[in-house]
Amino acid sequence: MTPIVTRLTLLTALAVVALAPTWAAAQSAPAPTGDPLKGAQKVQMCQGCHGIVGWRTAYPEVYRVPKIAGQHPPYIVAALKEYREGQRHHPSMDAIAASLTDQDMLDIAAYYSQSPLQTAVK
Ligand code: HEC
Repeated sequence: MTPIVTRLTLLTALAVVALAPTWAAAQSAPAPTGDPLKGAQKVQMCQGCHGIVGWRTAYPEVYRVPKIAGQHPPYIVAALKEYREGQRHHPSMDAIAASLTDQDMLDIAAYYSQSPLQTAVK
């Protein structure tokens, strides 16, 4: 008897611990927010295309890439979700967005929104 009760108590305690952060997050912020410092660690795979002077990339040929630094976070998140959910298509962006979680998108958006807008070099 006692071991079962102990185990149930333990399970309940674990469930409370597991759910607490979700509950706390739902209570505190009206909308989930991104962490720009975490975002900075997640943009290596973006910078090769979105982080270069003149907003061009050179593979397989030179083409223009949209400027995302300085955009509002909801704009960036919405665009990434559209690629991930198939409402918008681009060969590179579809695959990249598919690899991102919602939190990744928020963090990345927070990072890019705080990056200074740079003037494209012509
Ligand atoms: C291989 C090059 C490449 C890489 C890598 C890449 N992108 Fe893109 N991205 C593009 C191109 C090209 C477009 C424009 C596609 C289109 O016209 O729909 C784009 C579009 C976007 C847009 C929409 C911008 C707008 O104004 O509509 C966002 C947001 C974005 N990328 C974010 C990211 C993020 C975040 C990463 C990294 C996780 C990333 N991209 C990695 C090439 C790239």
